[in-house]
Order: sequence, then C-alpha cells, then structure tokens
Amino acid sequence: MTQHPHPPLGTGLHVAIIMDGNGRWAERRGLPRAEGHRAGVATARRVVEAGLDEAISVLTLYAFSSDNWGRPADEVTGLFSLLAEYLADEVRRCESRGVRLTVIGRRDRLPFPLRAAISNAEESTAEGKRIWLRLAVDYSSRDAIVRAANARNWVDPRAPASLESFGRLVATPGNPEGWQPAAAEVDLLIRTGGERRLSDFLLWESAYAELLFTDTMWPEFGPEDLRSALHDYRGRDRRFGRLAAESEPVSSPLLGPVGGRPWRVCARPASRIVLEGNGRGTGFEE
Ligand code: FPP
Repeated sequence: MTQHPHPPLGTGLHVAIIMDGNGRWAERRGLPRAEGHRAGVATARRVVEAGLDEAISVLTLYAFSSDNWGRPADEVTGLFSLLAEYLADEVRRCESRGVRLTVIGRRDRLPFPLRAAISNAEESTAEGKRIWLRLAVDYSSRDAIVRAANARNWVDPRAPASLESFGRLVATPGNPEGWQPAAAEVDLLIRTGGERRLSDFLLWESAYAELLFTDTMWPEFGPEDLRSALHDYRGRDRRFGRLAAESEPVSSPLLGPVGGRPWRVCARPASRIVLEGNGRGTGFEE
C-alpha cells in the first residue's frame, strides 16, 4: 500500500485551468499588460475560494509556462513578483481554510525570493485537506514527461515502469514527495481567453479530461463561471473508451488498485450524478 505523507483528500474532482486572456483584457482597456496579470491574481483568489464550496479536491492553475520565458523580461519579472506576492499574502488564508498549496514545475530557474516563497507556502499549508491548490510555475508537460522518463527508479530494467509509477513521476515535477493519487488524472480542464489548445499543460494527466473552452478573459472569470463549468461537466458522459458508463466500474489503468479514483459514473439524467469512490471514501452526490 502506498504511503502518503499528507492527509488524504476527499474524492472530489481534479479541475485544471489555463488562465488565459490577462494581457488582452488589459490592452482592451488601455492598461499595461501587468494590470491584466494583477487582475488575474484577484480572479485566482476568487476561484480558489469558490472551489472550496464545490466538489473539487485538486485545483491546478497554469501560472507560468516554460515557454513564457520568451516574453519580454519586464513581463517575466513582473509575473514572478506577482506570484511571490500572491504566495506571501495567501499563506495565512490557505492555512485557515484548509488549502494545501504546492507548486509543480522547474524551480532551478526561478528567482530566489520566489523559490523561498514557494517553500514557505508549501511547508505552512502542508496539513490542508479541504482542497489541494497546485500552481504550475515554469511548467512544461513535455519536460515533466522527459524528466520522468529519465528518473532512475524506473529506467532500471528490474523495476520497469507501470502506468501508475510513471504517472506519479510525471504528475509531480519538481516536487515528487508532494505526490497524492488525486493528482494523477484531470477530470475537467478549463481554458479561458478564447483559444482552444492545451499549450503543454498536463498532457499526460489529461488523457481522459473533459475539455471546456470559454471566450471569457481570465480576469472576468468568476465563481459563477466555475459553477457553470462544473454543471456542464456533470452533464457529460465519461466513457473512458467504453460504450456505456452506467453499469461497469471504471478503474483507471493509470491509477491501478492502489488509489486515486477508480470511479464509476452513474449519471442519468444529467442533473444527477454520483461518482462512487472505491477505497477513498464514498464520493459525492449532487
Ligand atoms: C495568460 O495571460 C496568463 C499567464 C501568462 C499566467 C499568469 C497568470 C496570472 C498572473 C494569474 C494567476 C496568478 C496566480 C498567482 C495563481 P496572457 O498574458 O497570455 O493573456 P493574453 O493571451 O491575452 O496575452
């Protein structure tokens, strides 16, 4: 049985968000792009707060992609300052609300104050179990996959990788000790800002994610948009490659028997959905 260093999470959803549209939102108002990012931070705060009231166990937010290094230096520096500020401001709030905050992605290229803010936030919020907030910073999914492929413990021919063990390495780049099975699969991936692409975000973990694209710019995305996205998600028929979802339990080959969310979706009609947990509690009912 896998040992988890952190308290187990509930059996809610893993929602991942590509927070796009900050720059355009600002430009349309004649504001500097940095103001768009500042407004984006405020949105992130509201969405996390709203997530606490929804059946979400893991919320992964794409804050800085490894390709964002290609932006002008002042925008990059500004984003890192904002992130460090957000982390410092957010620690108390996270602690009091039971939010565990961790960061995925490369750390070695981040400025020292940001790295320190990340470590501090991760340590201070380690006991949070209402929701697991993961910020993807200097994150590239393909890089995470390559790093997992290079990890010694599975290149060893005597211990070949399984979907579960490999997925574990992929899902926690930069922070393998932060693993929990709930990170393994994304249930719902939302992208704001009108573009319809994944931009190197959680490619492995989104193998069966439901995708939702909205034209709303991230600074304008609110709790009601999150609720509406979840409503849309609950109306979908997740078949995981099968023909029908009603009868047979669906066990993810990635998660295997040791955890995560071997679920079955007993959803008909769309307004009523039950995700039954198997080994991690009873799931939720709406
Ligand atoms: C996309 O907007 C957003 C980013 C590059 C990520 C930055 C996100 C934030 C600062 C908000 C969330 C922050 C925290 C702390 C969770 P864009 O600049 O690509 O917009 P555009 O496509 O309109 O130019």
